[in-house]
Amino acid sequence: MARSALLNVMVQAALKAGKSLARDFGEVQNLQVSVKGPSDFVSQADIKAERLVRDELLKSRPTYGFLGEESEEIKGTDGAHRWIVDPLDGTTNFLHGIPQFAVSIALERNGEIVAGVIFNPATDELYTAEKGGGAFLNDRRIRVAARKVLSDCVVGCGIPHLGRAAHGKFLVELRHVMGEVAGVRRMGAAALDLAYVAAGRLDGFWEAELNPWDIAAGLLLIREAGGFVSDMHDGQDMFHTGTVVAGNEYIRKALIEVIARPIPKA
Ligand code: IPD
Ligand code: CA
Ligand code: CA
Ligand code: CA
Repeated sequence: MARSALLNVMVQAALKAGKSLARDFGEVQNLQVSVKGPSDFVSQADIKAERLVRDELLKSRPTYGFLGEESEEIKGTDGAHRWIVDPLDGTTNFLHGIPQFAVSIALERNGEIVAGVIFNPATDELYTAEKGGGAFLNDRRIRVAARKVLSDCVVGCGIPHLGRAAHGKFLVELRHVMGEVAGVRRMGAAALDLAYVAAGRLDGFWEAELNPWDIAAGLLLIREAGGFVSDMHDGQDMFHTGTVVAGNEYIRKALIEVIARPIPKA
């Protein structure tokens, strides 16, 4: 499959950061780790990977802005374009030697995500999408799963960090969802969770308290794989609400309804 010049730049950046992450993953016990908040860590590996991605992207598109998890936002001079990057999504997995983590790179143009790349260097799985061009896993076209009823579905979720407002609410949501589906998974890297929905591995996904860098690339992958994504209120304000519900349209809608159910009276 021939990739566009833009996607090539993004893939090169993801592979470069991925190589650095793979090296650090092999020596994870030697990495310096600091704590941002309860159950929220950042390591040298995150910071190194972000620098590699940022340098690579800004070298090829110097006028674009850059929003990354681990550094100050850079406002672009062209006003229309912004890279949105999570250099290491799944830091907790990474630090525990669990090979479920990824580099996530998206390009926003006039407020719309137009290209996305997610790369897991531990499995060599590279997900790519460009607006209107479909979604791919290692150059093979992917599509969301077709299951229409929740009781057949395996859905992914994320658990908000300890101490955050959504943490307690999640327990209620989980209880409701568990009663409806064939299985629930918590795999620990939101970018990959969304990529798995795009690839039809997970039928659906929901999580709250996410940041734009966790989801930007994944949102496009899902749409380009024929799926649907919204916030938990059925709107499109995922970046500000920090909430995401995804799947094919049957499953996304069904999940929204189940998640919104009130807390049962004791
Ligand atoms: C985290 C992961 C995790 C999700 C958290 C994110 P990080 O990202 O995506 O799955 O549940 O909300 O913060 O910190 O590992 O890049
Ligand atoms: Ca983090
Ligand atoms: Ca993340
Ligand atoms: Ca991260």
